Amino acid sequence: MAKIRLDKFITNCGIYTRSQAKKLIHTKKVAVSGEIVTDEGFKVDELQSDITVNGINVTAEKYTYIMLNKPAGVISATEDKTHKTVIDLLDPCDRRNGLFPVGRLDIDTEGLLILTNDGAFAHDTLSPKKHVSKLYAADVSAYTYSKESRQRFSDGIILSDGYKCKPAVLDLVTENENFTSVTLEITEGKFHQVKKMFEAEGGKVIRLKRLSFGRIKLDESLKSGEYRRLTDTEMQFVASVKNKTN
Ligand code: URA
Repeated sequence: MAKIRLDKFITNCGIYTRSQAKKLIHTKKVAVSGEIVTDEGFKVDELQSDITVNGINVTAEKYTYIMLNKPAGVISATEDKTHKTVIDLLDPCDRRNGLFPVGRLDIDTEGLLILTNDGAFAHDTLSPKKHVSKLYAADVSAYTYSKESRQRFSDGIILSDGYKCKPAVLDLVTENENFTSVTLEITEGKFHQVKKMFEAEGGKVIRLKRLSFGRIKLDESLKSGEYRRLTDTEMQFVASVKNKTN
């Protein structure tokens, strides 16, 4: 496990600047596993979970909920031998508490991905019974938008294996000679679902980005690869999913 300097660990936790962290350490306000430490360069495990500042555990957040703007080329997993994972995009301090992605986006899909260590939320929100909607922006080649195609999405696209998808809402954004840009709202999350739905219409998804997940919308101020904690308003969606009993 990687070790990092105590002042860096405290700075990474996002509350204090580096100079504030050093001052807190020098003035005996910081304890590691219950022992006051005054050496700012003291090495701590980056997954250390018992560091207090003024007696308050700065690592004690029970559950963490993060919105990540996932870049293409990164996989939705916690570890992988060959590819960079979404967890590798996090600061060491945020990596420590068992975060994992809620569901998966394909390696080439971008956009909104929620990371959490709240297994119950992940389970509930992915349950087909909760009908959580997901909105995607897709660029599709070899496909022309039409009212008839929109209706087929609305009735339930039939995939090549015979599976009938739940009703989906398709809207045209723009068209050019190379591809058609659309948004598609679905309530399921089957493997390669959006790509397969367009395949069934003869098209090929060449770019896919998730714009929203339930009531949580991708924060467009997050650059690709950036992330932040969910806001209190976004947390209301988390609470509503967890409270729903059906
Ligand atoms: N549908 C897909 O085909 N891929 C994704 O990553 C998400 C939805």
